[in-house]
Amino acid sequence: MSERTPLIAGNWKMHFTSHEAREFAAELCALLGTGDTPTAEIAVCPPFTALEAAGAGFATCQVWIAAQDVHEQASGAHTGEVSVAMIRAAGAEGAIVGHSERRAAGESDARVAAKVSRALEAQLRVILCVGESLEQREAGETDAWLEGQISAVLDAVPGYDAEALVIAYEPIWAIGTGRTATPEMAQQACAHVRAVAGRYLDAARLRVLYGGSVKPDNAADLLAQPDIDGALVGGASLDPVGFMEIIRAA
Ligand code: PGA
Repeated sequence: MSERTPLIAGNWKMHFTSHEAREFAAELCALLGTGDTPTAEIAVCPPFTALEAAGAGFATCQVWIAAQDVHEQASGAHTGEVSVAMIRAAGAEGAIVGHSERRAAGESDARVAAKVSRALEAQLRVILCVGESLEQREAGETDAWLEGQISAVLDAVPGYDAEALVIAYEPIWAIGTGRTATPEMAQQACAHVRAVAGRYLDAARLRVLYGGSVKPDNAADLLAQPDIDGALVGGASLDPVGFMEIIRAA
C-alpha cells in the first residue's frame, strides 16, 4: 500500500434536491457513526442547488463537498454559470472539472485547463476527469489520448500542489453503462496517468481514481490495484448503504 489516503467521491450528477441531500447526509453520517472509522477520505459532489444543504448535512461527519463543475472566469456576464467564489461560499472545498458528460457537451481541453487553473488559484481542490471512448480504446489510442488530455491541463497550470489535484480516470464506455474496466485495464491506465502527471508533479503524492460503473461488488478488486487510489462513483453513490460498502472496500 502507498502512503496515499484513498478517496471515495460520489458524483450525484443531476440527482437530489436540497431536501434529499440532507436526508442522504443524515443516513450516511449515521452509517459512518457505526463501526470502525473508514480508512478512505470521503467526498460527495452534489448539484449546485444542493451544495449548501449537503455542507450543512455533513457538518457533523467527515465528508467534504465538491461541486460538479465551475466556471473559468471569476465573475461576469455568464448566464447560468457559477463561479469559484460562489461554490466556496456554498460550502464546496473543491470541484470536478472536465467530466466526460461536460466534455461531450462541447467543453474543450483549453476550457478544462482554464477551469482547473481558476479553481486551484482559488485554493479549491480539483478532481480532473480524463478518459477515452470505446473507439479510441479499440484503436489502441488510449495512452496517447490520456497523455494529451493530461498535458493540455498540466502544461497550462504551473506550480500547484499534487495534493490539491486528483485525477480520475474514467473510460467513457464504462460510465453509467454497467460495463466496468477490468481491474487490470484500470490499473494499467491509472499507472499511465500517474506516469504522465509525474512529469509535472510529485507522482508519489498524486491520487488517481478510477470511475465508471464502480459498484459495491467490484470496488474491492479495483481499489486493490497499486495505482488506483480511490473511486469516482456515479450511480452507486446515490444509495447510502451501497456507497458505504464502497467506502469500506477502500
Ligand atoms: P457511474 O458514473 O459510476 O454511474 O458509471 C461515474 C461518473 O460518471 O463519474
